Amino acid sequence: MSGDEERSRRQQLLRRMGIDVWVRRDDPPPAVLEPPADRVAQARDGDARQAQGAAVYAPGAPDIAHMDWQSLAQSVAGCTRCPLCHSRTQTVFGVGRRDADILVVGEAPGAEEDRQGEPFVGRAGQLLDNMLRALGYSRERVFIANMLKCRPPRNRDPGAEEVEACRPYLARQIELVRPSVILALGRIAAQNLLGSDRPLRTLRQQVHTLQQRAIPVVVSYHPAYLLRTPQDKAKAWDDLKRLRELLPERAEREGTA
Ligand code: URA
Repeated sequence: MSGDEERSRRQQLLRRMGIDVWVRRDDPPPAVLEPPADRVAQARDGDARQAQGAAVYAPGAPDIAHMDWQSLAQSVAGCTRCPLCHSRTQTVFGVGRRDADILVVGEAPGAEEDRQGEPFVGRAGQLLDNMLRALGYSRERVFIANMLKCRPPRNRDPGAEEVEACRPYLARQIELVRPSVILALGRIAAQNLLGSDRPLRTLRQQVHTLQQRAIPVVVSYHPAYLLRTPQDKAKAWDDLKRLRELLPERAEREGTA
């Protein structure tokens, strides 16, 4: 199937599912997931803000929205855009295919991810691998990233300023991968990705689209939640079936392995 045919098939699927189809402009703006202006702290008073525990934004932050993979990875590795840079062992950039059909977005690295520098490597990661396998994908054939690239201490929920500081990195990863579909795992990832404060149970019920992008977003439970609540695995499978509808034909996927 040619690129045009695939695009047209995807648009048909989206329309059938009642989703507004966004038509790409010739020269789309590079940034997605624009942060709400009032939540973005400006680069100033770095040390004073840090001392107060507030987000620190690197002065003269580089133009993340135009970075290639290499500069983006380097920028993340040396990031000092929020105070989590002081408590992390290392950043967790993300792993997988740079042209993946599926981009998985989790919340933030946990202890093991912070130690290994890779997302979803613990028990939740094994469950994620199984979920992907059920779709016919290995871990290596998707791209896995998190809202935050650094671990929040004691695995607390990410703070709003941390999310805003990290948002341009994920936005650029989405731009570079241009996946067929994004799988948002858990409330934190889903709400922040979609700019919504609706509960997860509501967000799961429909396929969303990223603002200004024809990239569908399917929301499901976080694997760590499913480990605690296995009775909801059947509902997670419903979500994955919804996601499967948005993927390119299987034969094509096999051809590009
Ligand atoms: N939970 C997440 O959301 N991401 C990880 O990388 C690990 C656990």
